[in-house]
Amino acid sequence: MNSKTYLLALALSAVLPLSAQQTPIYQDATKHIEERVEDALSRMTLQEKVAMVHAQSKFSSAGVPRLGIPEVWMTDGPHGIRSEVLWDEWDQAGWTNDSCVAFPALTCLAATWNEEISSLYGKSIGEEALYRGKDVLLGPGVNIYRTPLNGRNFEYMGEDPFLAARMVVPYIHGVQDKGVAACVKHFALNNHEVNRHTTNVIVDDRTLYEIYLPAFKAAVQEGKAWAVMGAYNLYQNQHACHNQRLLNDILKGEWGFDGVVVSDWGGVHNTDQAITNGMDMEFGSWTNGLSNGASNAYDNYYLAMPYLQRIREGKVGTTELDDKVRRILRLCFRTNMSPTRPLGSLCSPEHYEAARRIGEEGIVLLQNRDNLLPIDLDRAKKILVVGENAIKMMTVGGGSSSLKVQREVSPLEGIRNRVAGRAEVVYARGYVGDAGGEYNGVVTGQNLKDNRTPEELIAEAVREAADADYVIFIGGLNKSAGQDCEDTDRKGLGLSYGQDELISALAEANKNLIVVNISGNAVAMPWMDRVPAIVQGWYLGSEAGNSLAAILMGDVNPSGKLPFTFPARLEDVPAHSLGEYTGVRSDTVIDIRYNEGIFVGYRWTDKQKKIRPLFPFGHGLSYTTFAYDKPTLDNRTLTADTDALTLRVKVRNTGTRAGQEVVQLYISDKKSSLPRPIKELKGFRKISLAPGEEQEVVFLINREALSFFDDAKHEWVAEPGRFDAIIAASATDIKGTISFELK
Ligand code: BGC
Repeated sequence: MNSKTYLLALALSAVLPLSAQQTPIYQDATKHIEERVEDALSRMTLQEKVAMVHAQSKFSSAGVPRLGIPEVWMTDGPHGIRSEVLWDEWDQAGWTNDSCVAFPALTCLAATWNEEISSLYGKSIGEEALYRGKDVLLGPGVNIYRTPLNGRNFEYMGEDPFLAARMVVPYIHGVQDKGVAACVKHFALNNHEVNRHTTNVIVDDRTLYEIYLPAFKAAVQEGKAWAVMGAYNLYQNQHACHNQRLLNDILKGEWGFDGVVVSDWGGVHNTDQAITNGMDMEFGSWTNGLSNGASNAYDNYYLAMPYLQRIREGKVGTTELDDKVRRILRLCFRTNMSPTRPLGSLCSPEHYEAARRIGEEGIVLLQNRDNLLPIDLDRAKKILVVGENAIKMMTVGGGSSSLKVQREVSPLEGIRNRVAGRAEVVYARGYVGDAGGEYNGVVTGQNLKDNRTPEELIAEAVREAADADYVIFIGGLNKSAGQDCEDTDRKGLGLSYGQDELISALAEANKNLIVVNISGNAVAMPWMDRVPAIVQGWYLGSEAGNSLAAILMGDVNPSGKLPFTFPARLEDVPAHSLGEYTGVRSDTVIDIRYNEGIFVGYRWTDKQKKIRPLFPFGHGLSYTTFAYDKPTLDNRTLTADTDALTLRVKVRNTGTRAGQEVVQLYISDKKSSLPRPIKELKGFRKISLAPGEEQEVVFLINREALSFFDDAKHEWVAEPGRFDAIIAASATDIKGTISFELK
């Protein structure tokens, strides 16, 4: 206290009564959050409370200016901080200081199988959000990969609930340690995009609890997520954004979620249900007959005037309102009113470094015949790069996750920079996909128009390929409608724009062909046998080209593993062969039955012995080799007195390069009263080994790892009997099995 303030304090203490001098409890950071919440709530008027539970602009909700309680600002999410739009329009606000670092898409993060990398991701994006003044990050997404057609799979973490659960938790901690709330989305059962507003999912409880909920549960109970976003679709004929079972019974009831349920933008459809069924904050809808695009409709939101009116008329009480406001105040005290909130940072060298590392660890080497990769620059004079995705900016497009980046290194640039002077790098377009580059007013500024015919483009690429030492084709999907994009699904598994023909022609022309598939989804690969090296490149964000070049040139040993199965044909995907999916738009609600039940992804391919995926779940090659010893267990029986068995397995790097390996543990229940998958992922560890180095990996196997959800009892059950613990390098590359018994 300087002398001036001291004198002022002294003077005040003489004239003011004691109560007026005291800091109100809600402003007193030494007080418990719950005490502060109650105090703030007790000071608020009805209008102030109602103002808090719905949007006031595209991405913000009202605070209580009279009390100094700030507005809540949200942002997409989940791969970087979205640029600013106008208060009440989707158009760009035109700021010049809202560019960000784009981190790799969440499929890539999941493919790292590295919890530390997930934590780095969360921390980095959290810092960017904080610097940009955001309180809630709309992400991460953990909807399960049910069909490769889903246009938003790239924003999620794959097909396996265990992997998604393990990977989402550190991301949330990373973000929230910065005083920014993670808003985990889209809760729940939003597994495709076409008809996302009109799909009523029919799924049995066992499947719901075993497949579609575990990642959300982990996000809430272990990640302690401060916010969850409701999904657009319906479940039990009720919209997920005001769904009694999902929000009240499960999320807030069974899981004890004390945070805020935010609606997806326009996901609320009914005031009464929104009041009673667990919806806390309504965003983004146009209601009460206002047409899409009418301005400042916020008063007409389901949770705005219609709510206030119902309270005033005595039709509903204020118990639910107080509960909603308590949750929002809690969110404020955790974020924008937190006394320990650190400082953020934007576009820092550390964030670029993080983006590059995440990319490098997530890229998956799918195939590498005759060790074509890494590229040997000592014997390469000419490297030909072909394909639109080598030059196209991928951070713009795809829907709400689209970004305005400070910079994006394209694959071609990354390769050119890395090769610099050592070999000639020639580029041929090969095909024209989507020459545009715009989302919501963010433009890439790239002019990708090319008026040549497909034949001309192929001919040029083939001609250039003839004398090249290596040909790198970079194609795949591109986040345009139907090519990995929100509100659209893909029409099929195949690649568009004649890419298959082009790849086949290149394979004829040059035997050293490397195909890099940029996508967030599995694609068909009819040319697989003719292409020696295939790399899964994901959407890699700002550092895309640098991450990719590091892998192709062998600066970094590939260590990514697939977070989902690459099926050979759509018919091999159970959602399509057994379950229901429709790509036909419907304005009225349609039922979609998840008849395949728990047999999603590798759970299905394991069961259908005849189905061979192109690449299995967990697959990913390396430039070095690893040898696994036989796994051992400290005990062959798990009894009521033992918490867990300890499994140990030694893994050795038998090659000549340092590298990382993901050791996977699957559990197989040999006999069970209910059908169970052949095996299920229950542990994984990513280890780093120098050539010749060996490390022992330790897993604990507890009852939880043996349990299934018994929907008749509505509880998780570990049935006594024999189990196998399987150590593997992918769902089909089994390294060792050891049996034990549960008594
Ligand atoms: C998307 C959400 C997104 C929101 C705000 C919705 O259309 O489904 O994931 O966070 O828009 O942009």
